[in-house]
Amino acid sequence: MANKYYKDNREFIKGLDEAGLLVTVEQEVDWDMEMGAIVRRVCEMKGPSPYFKSIKEYEGFEALGAPLATYPKLALALGLPPDASIPEIGRVYTERTNGAPIQPVVVERDAAPCKQNIITGDDVDLFDLPAPMVHDGDGGRYLATWHMVVSREPDSGDVNWGMYRQMVFDEKTMTGPVLPFSDMGKMFYNKYVPRNQPMPFATVIGMDPLSGIAACAPSPIPEDQFTGMMMGEPVELVKCETNDLLVPASAEIIIEGEVLPGINMLEAPFGEYTGYRTSPREPRAVYRVHAITYRDRPIVAVSNMGIPTDEGQLLRSFSLGLEMEKLLRSQGIPITGVYMLPESTHHLVVVGTKPAYSGIASQIAQLVFGSKLGPWFHQVIVVDQTVDIYNVNEVIHAFSTRCDPARDIHIYRESAGTPLNPYASPADRKVGRGSKVLFDCLFPLDWSRADTPILVSFNTVYPQDIQDRVLAQWTNYGFSE
Ligand SMILES: Cc1cc2nc3c(=O)[nH]c(=O)nc-3n(C[C@H](O)[C@H](O)[C@H](O)COP(=O)(O)O)c2cc1C
Repeated sequence: MANKYYKDNREFIKGLDEAGLLVTVEQEVDWDMEMGAIVRRVCEMKGPSPYFKSIKEYEGFEALGAPLATYPKLALALGLPPDASIPEIGRVYTERTNGAPIQPVVVERDAAPCKQNIITGDDVDLFDLPAPMVHDGDGGRYLATWHMVVSREPDSGDVNWGMYRQMVFDEKTMTGPVLPFSDMGKMFYNKYVPRNQPMPFATVIGMDPLSGIAACAPSPIPEDQFTGMMMGEPVELVKCETNDLLVPASAEIIIEGEVLPGINMLEAPFGEYTGYRTSPREPRAVYRVHAITYRDRPIVAVSNMGIPTDEGQLLRSFSLGLEMEKLLRSQGIPITGVYMLPESTHHLVVVGTKPAYSGIASQIAQLVFGSKLGPWFHQVIVVDQTVDIYNVNEVIHAFSTRCDPARDIHIYRESAGTPLNPYASPADRKVGRGSKVLFDCLFPLDWSRADTPILVSFNTVYPQDIQDRVLAQWTNYGFSE
């Protein structure tokens, strides 16, 4: 049975508006930093998404900023009320993505809104699209900040949708970093490059929100099928004009072409998801563009990476944490939950466990750091079931009172990391290396009961009947709820 969801970007915009999570900006805005600055401020205020109706020099184009940068917008995208709690949003995501993969369906070209305008060959000019200059100091205009790059593994045929930022280099070329441990990095650098074979790609801008969530998620399931699982029915795709890749039929803009082997072009700097400008201008992957197709009056998506919270931080934290939870549960580790804080720019994860045996925190850290997810984050805090992992105050309290600096902090040196890690040394950043740490916030199991400190809280040191009476009488005492 289909779940409640938004079939395309435009339905989602309507949904955001109805939920009070959208501001329609009628006044003309400049693609050169003004639009970016508005989106940045919205992210920092956790505010409503700006829907730009008029972009300077780009008559006929619109833009949506910060489409999914808060939990209420994420809840809405999953068909939930905007005030759904974080654990509830996570439960729904996990339930839907634990089922059987749902294969996409292919629709006819005539039924695909993304084919309303088709530009190929010499007519292609990326500067015809309103790529924003997102931040001052960026190395160029970034067309792809909230998008997905479609590619296909040449041997297995598996499809990958992922977000890999793309800067406009010239009329027909984009450049961007493709990290070697990402799914697209593995297929491009391990398969296409050694064969000196160009890799067909399609960049999708303005897709429906669930496809965007899937493109961010580090799931082993191909994202076209993963999106279907979240929808509860197949995602509708259409064939590209100049290659055999399939793209969401109702997306706003499709940019088709090939990633060229054996050549790099300069890209960056760029304001990044960690909240810093870290990576230098360097030669990066080259996307040669052969065609652009788009809906009438297309709506470009604009994300603005910087200090929390942007959609990359929110959604990568959300799905990295929940994929970690799936991994730990699949190994039979007795955990109560996993929460990755978006404000940590998906660097810090909190794992709740029922400590059944000594060394469980190390086992958890080694598993998650050693997984495919490992390069993306650096700190694990393990707490017991008395701590609400979603409550930062409780996590800080546990960290400050249960983690012995000499006994409970475990450092893993020379681990796989990312070149964007701000605290890694310049030399470590160059090769994507960094250290990681476990903060074990569990009291040792071999301490006697009498020696183990007792948590003093309303929930733990009063008999149930006293708690019930106080709660029942709370407003009668004169307090508000
Ligand atoms: C907004 C955004 C921008 C990203 N930019 C890049 C990028 O430029 N290069 C890269 O390798 N990964 C980038 N990532 C991470 C990949 O999207 C991520 O590796 C992929 O989508 C999912 O993980 P997988 O490749 O392990 O399946 C970005 C993620 C987000 C959310």
